[in-house]
Amino acid sequence: MPKNLVLGQFPETRMRRTRQFDWSRSLVAETHLSSRELIWSVFVRDGTLPHEVPTLPGVKRYAVDEIIDSVGEAYDAGVRAVALFPVLNDEKKSDDALECLNPEGLIPEAARRLKKAFPDLGLISDVALDSYTSHGHDGLVKGDEVLNDETINLLAKHALVHADAGIDVISPSDMLDGRIGAIRTLLDQKGYHNTLILSYAAKYASCLYGPFRDALGSRKKLGAKHKKSYQLDPRNVNEAIRETGLDIQEGADMVMVKPALLYLDVLAKVKETFKVPTCAFHVSGEYAMLKNAVHAGWLNYEQGLMEMLIACKRAGADAIITYGAVDAAKLLKDGYE
Ligand code: PBG
Repeated sequence: MPKNLVLGQFPETRMRRTRQFDWSRSLVAETHLSSRELIWSVFVRDGTLPHEVPTLPGVKRYAVDEIIDSVGEAYDAGVRAVALFPVLNDEKKSDDALECLNPEGLIPEAARRLKKAFPDLGLISDVALDSYTSHGHDGLVKGDEVLNDETINLLAKHALVHADAGIDVISPSDMLDGRIGAIRTLLDQKGYHNTLILSYAAKYASCLYGPFRDALGSRKKLGAKHKKSYQLDPRNVNEAIRETGLDIQEGADMVMVKPALLYLDVLAKVKETFKVPTCAFHVSGEYAMLKNAVHAGWLNYEQGLMEMLIACKRAGADAIITYGAVDAAKLLKDGYE
C-alpha cells in the first residue's frame, strides 16, 4: 500500500455509501461501455446453406440478400462497425483457396451493398484462408506443414480484393509470420494507404473457436488436426507480447487479443505495454457458454452479456468484437448500467 494513501477507517469511512443509489453508483463508475465500441460479428453465408448454427444458439448466418436488413437492425441500435466472416458452400472450397481472390465473392459482394446502404458503417473483414480451404487450415498446406511465405503472399492479394470492394479494415486472423507487413506493402503499392489493419496479434490456439468452426463448416474438415503450429500456446504471455510488438512494427493500426475472457491478463498487459488501440474478441465459445447457461435457466442473458463486455473494457479493451453486439447496443440505448 502506498505510504501517504489516506484510506480512512470504519466507522467514519463506509465504502457502501456510494453504492446506495443508481445515480451514485454511476457517478463513481470507473468503466463505461458504449455501442460505438462494439463490433458485431456477422456470418455471410452462401445462399444454399441454412441460417442456424446448432452450436451457436441465437446467431444466424445471413445470405448477401439478407445482410442489409440484419445490419440495419444493428445500425439502428447504435452499432457502427461489423466484422464479416464468409461461409462458403463446400463446392467453392479448395486446397489452393482461390475463391478468396474472387472479386464477386461473398465478402466483396456484401461489402459493396453495405457501403452503399450505410456509408458511415465501418466494414471489417476477416482475412484468413480457413473459410476457403478444403482442409480447414488458415494457410496453404503441403504434407503436414502449413506454409508460411506462400500463404502470406496469397493473403495480401486476398486483402487487396477486399479493399477494392470497399472494406475499411483488413483483419488478418491467420497468425502466420510476416503477414501484416506483406498486406501493408501490397495495399500501399496499390494506393490503399488509408485502409486500416486490425491484426489478430495475440490469438491463442483455443477450444473456444469450436462453434465458429461449425458455422464455417471447418471443424469437421480439421478433424483431429489443430492450429497449434501457428496460434499461440495458452501457457504463454511473453510470446504474445512479442507477437503483438512485431505486428505493430509491421504496420498494424489496431491489435487484438483473442479469446477475450480467458485471456484478460494478456489483454491488460498488451494495452499497458504498447498503449495502442486494442480490441478484444469475445469469441463463439464464450458466447455459446453463456447462451447455454441461459437456456438451462442458470444465468441471466442480459446481465451475463453486459458483465462479460464490461470485463473486457475494464481489462483495457478499446473495442470488442462480439456476437452479442446488437443485444448489448439495444440494452445501452435503453439506459442499461
Ligand atoms: C480463423 C478465425 C477463427 C475465428 C475468427 N477467425 C477460428 C480459428 O482460428 O479457427 C474464431 C472466432 C470465434 O470463435 O468466434 N480465421
